[in-house]
Amino acid sequence: MMNVVILAAGQGKRMHSDLPKVLQPLAGKPMIECVLDTVARLPDVSRTVVVIGHRAEVVREALGSRSGLEFALQSPQLGTGHALQCALPQLDPEAGQTLVLLGDVPLVQPETIDRLTRVAGDGMAILTTVLRNPTGYGRILRQRGRIVAIVEQKDATEGQKQIREVNTGIMLLPTARLAGWLSELKSANAQGEYYLTDVIGLAVRDGVRINSARPRRSFEVEGVNSKTQLARLEGIWQDHQAELLTEAGVTVLDPSRLDVRGRLSCGRDVTIDVGCIFEGEVELGDGVSVGPYCVIRNARIARGARIEAFCHIDGAEVGDNARVGPYARLRPQAVLAEDVHAGNFVEIKKSNIGRGSKINHLSYIGDTDMGSGVNIGAGTITCNYDGVHKFRTTIGDNAFIGSDTQLIAPVTVGAGATLGAGTTLAKDAPAGELTLSRAPQRTIQGWRRPVREDAGQKPAPGAQAAGKDGAR
Ligand code: UD1
Ligand code: CA
Repeated sequence: MMNVVILAAGQGKRMHSDLPKVLQPLAGKPMIECVLDTVARLPDVSRTVVVIGHRAEVVREALGSRSGLEFALQSPQLGTGHALQCALPQLDPEAGQTLVLLGDVPLVQPETIDRLTRVAGDGMAILTTVLRNPTGYGRILRQRGRIVAIVEQKDATEGQKQIREVNTGIMLLPTARLAGWLSELKSANAQGEYYLTDVIGLAVRDGVRINSARPRRSFEVEGVNSKTQLARLEGIWQDHQAELLTEAGVTVLDPSRLDVRGRLSCGRDVTIDVGCIFEGEVELGDGVSVGPYCVIRNARIARGARIEAFCHIDGAEVGDNARVGPYARLRPQAVLAEDVHAGNFVEIKKSNIGRGSKINHLSYIGDTDMGSGVNIGAGTITCNYDGVHKFRTTIGDNAFIGSDTQLIAPVTVGAGATLGAGTTLAKDAPAGELTLSRAPQRTIQGWRRPVREDAGQKPAPGAQAAGKDGAR
C-alpha cells in the first residue's frame, strides 16, 4: 500500500491570476483534478492527502465533491519539503511508501507511476526526464550513474545548469524515514525555502539507494507555472487526443482544430469537421458525422446520426440516423429517438421526441413528450413556464402542428390532431380533429391610410394602420 500526497499549496505568482494555480483549467478541468483522476486509477492507495495553503478554502471547496480525500493545511508556505511535512500526521504509517505528486504537473499517467513503483521496489525512486531546455527545473546530480542530489535552478552552478536530466517533482519515498529527513531540512538556499529535493542528499547519506524512471511521453511531466506553459501544455494534450482518435480510425478533418475536454469515445467511421469542442463524456456511434463548429457536452449521439454545422448539444441524446442542425441547440434531457429531424434555430429541452418526428425550423420545445411521426411547423413554441412553475406538453403520434403555434402547457394534443397555423392552444386538442384559434380574416373595403395634411403624398412614417393620430 502507499500514501499519495499532492502538493497544491503554492500561490503560482507567475500565473498573474486570482484563481489558485492548481485550479487553472487544463483539458477542461482544474489541473489538480487531472492529478486526482490519475490517482483514482492507481492500485493500492491507502490515503490521499492534498496539501493546500494559498486560498486553501477555494481549493478545498473546488474538490469538495470528491470522496476519499484528506486535506492538510500549509500556512505559511515555506517550500515543498515543508508542504510534505504538513501532510505527515495524516499519512498511514502502515503504508510503506509515499508517492509525492505536484498539483501543477497535471498530466502524469498511471502507467508511468506504475513504472516508478516498480523501479522503487521497497526503496525510493524519482521520476526524471531529459529536456532540451531544462531551465527552471531541479537538476539531477549523479555520481557513477547513481543519483546523489538534486540542485534547484536558482542554486545551480553554471556547470550544473548544463545538466539536462531534471527532477519532475514526482517521487516515491519510504514513509517511515520521512519525519526524520524532513526535520533535517534547512532553508539556506536561494529561495529561503525548505526544499523537498534536499531529502535526496539525506537519503544518500543514510545509504538509501535511489532509483529513477522516465515517463513514456514527455508531456506527462511538464510543470505549469505560467499561462504560457498552460496554453502550451493544452496544445500538446489536444494534439495527443486527436492522434488517439485518428489512430483509432476517426476521420478528423483537421487534427489541429479539435478540442476534447473530457472523454470522447467514437464508433467506426465517425467524421468530425473542424472547430468542434467535446466536453465531459461524449459518445459518437458508428457512422456519426459532426459538422464544423459544434460544441457537444455530455451527450450520446447514436449510429448514423448527422450533426450539421454550429450545433450546441448539452446533456442530450440523439437517436439513430437523426439529423440535427445546422444551428440547433439541444439542452439537458432532450432525448431524440431515431430518424428525428431537429432543424435550424431549434431549441429542445427536457423533452422526448418520438421516432421520425420533425421540428425543422425556428422552434422552442421544452418539457414535452412528443410521439412519433409528428410534424412541428416553423415558429412553434411550447409555453412551458408561467414565471414560477414549469408545465408539460404532450403531443400524440402523427399530430401536425401548424406554423407559429403556441402550446400553453399543461396541454395535450391528441394523436393525429391537426392544429391550424397561428393557433394559441390553451385547451387540449382532440385526436384526429382540426383545432385552430384564429380571428376570422376580414377585409375593409375602401380603407385608406391616413396622410399628413402638410406632407403631400408621403404616408406618415410609423403610422399605425388603424391609429387615429399615427402615434410613434
Ligand atoms: C519543483 C521542484 C523542482 C522540479 C519542479 C518540477 C522543489 C524544491 N523543486 O520546482 O526540482 O524540477 O518542481 O515541476 O521541490 N508547493 C506547496 N507548498 C510550498 C511550495 C510549493 O504546496 O510551500 C506546491 C505548489 O503548489 C506546486 C508544487 O508544490 O504544486 C511545486 O512548487 P513550485 O513552486 O511550482 O516548484 P518548482 O519551482 O516548479
Ligand atoms: Ca512548478
